[in-house]
Amino acid sequence: MARIELRNIVKTYGGFNAVQNLDMTIEDGELLVLLGPSGCGKSTTMNMVAGLTDPTSGQILFDGVDVTQRSPHERNIAMVFQSSLLYPHLSAHDNIYMSLKRSGLSKQEIEARIARAAETVDVTRLLDKLPSQLSGGERQRIATAKAIVREPAGFLLDEPLSALDASLRLSLRAELVNLQKRIRTTMIFVTHDQIEAMTMGDRIGVMRNGRLEQIGTPTDIYNRPATLFVAGFVGAPPMNFLKGSLERADGKLWLVNPSLKVEITGEFAGAAPAKEIILGIRPHLMRLSEAGSSALPLTVYAIEQLGNEAIVICDGPAGEKIRVIAPAGFTAPIGTAVHATFDGASARLFDPATERVLAVEKRA
Ligand SMILES: Nc1ncnc2c1ncn2[C@@H]1O[C@H](COP(=O)(O)OP(=O)(O)OP(=O)(O)O)[C@@H](O)[C@H]1O
Ligand SMILES: [Mg+2]
Repeated sequence: MARIELRNIVKTYGGFNAVQNLDMTIEDGELLVLLGPSGCGKSTTMNMVAGLTDPTSGQILFDGVDVTQRSPHERNIAMVFQSSLLYPHLSAHDNIYMSLKRSGLSKQEIEARIARAAETVDVTRLLDKLPSQLSGGERQRIATAKAIVREPAGFLLDEPLSALDASLRLSLRAELVNLQKRIRTTMIFVTHDQIEAMTMGDRIGVMRNGRLEQIGTPTDIYNRPATLFVAGFVGAPPMNFLKGSLERADGKLWLVNPSLKVEITGEFAGAAPAKEIILGIRPHLMRLSEAGSSALPLTVYAIEQLGNEAIVICDGPAGEKIRVIAPAGFTAPIGTAVHATFDGASARLFDPATERVLAVEKRA
């Protein structure tokens, strides 16, 4: 298993920067999820780690050794793709065997490894079957066995679950995490599904337009998003955003806009007054309330019942959509006037000019 390091990686196609100045380290035995919208450069990054694509500039190191010029074979990295290819005319066993065909290992050693890999992903009883005789999940497990049988230094998985139905995806997700922890392999897992990223990653790297926006633990990314993009991309339902100004009065800091005045306490209490800021607040941290100067006036747009709670989707006073979590079964006709409050200590403040979280001087 290896520590994988990307140093100032750039990949340009023609004049287009698919990946820009990417610096990232995946620790030995870590599961890092690369998350981002379509076209942000996730697959390009994976292909460069695997050695299938050459970076335009920058270095890739495995355990401190520069492998940038090495072939995929020399890197000993296994890759599983979205629609993992199995040879249709070969049995599961022979499909796994293909990974070791040119390994130079003895027949005996190869068979022992196949048996071990099959056991690891629980497909021993399926080894004689053809891919067409297997379910989607079973095929994915054979593909995984095919990858682990090489005992690679690292695993790259590029949206390996996206072709599967929701419930299968859910169980395979847990299976993969369990496998990764059992064999303690370094793994990079690509997805554009933020729930998948939250549930699987030791850390998440959020990419956008070829750049790494933020890297951190799921809790960090969720609670302390560094940019407006990360704040809006991670979390379901998404974070609410309100525009306003920051004003200091009576020794306190206030978010003020035409419909609201809320005291900002907590992490951002020491922020400097500002003409324009964007306040982010998670739907779960808002609640429906009586009218009042610190309550946001809203109009019900739609209500989504989730069984354990309801998402009340509202039109806000500035035309923004605001989501508030209400108790399960909450109903109100569309167009009903409601109000919502939140604690100014749980808000996150962003600078609209830089789209980054507001810098606050550390109080002594
Ligand atoms: N061979 C290529 N030639 C030119 N442009 C390319 C090439 N490969 C990728 N790109 C461009 O680079 C950008 C990043 O592509 P990439 O496949 O890495 O995105 P991605 O994040 O994996 O997206 P998705 O979630 O859709 O798979 C895209 O804008 C894509 O069009
Ligand atoms: Mg891709």
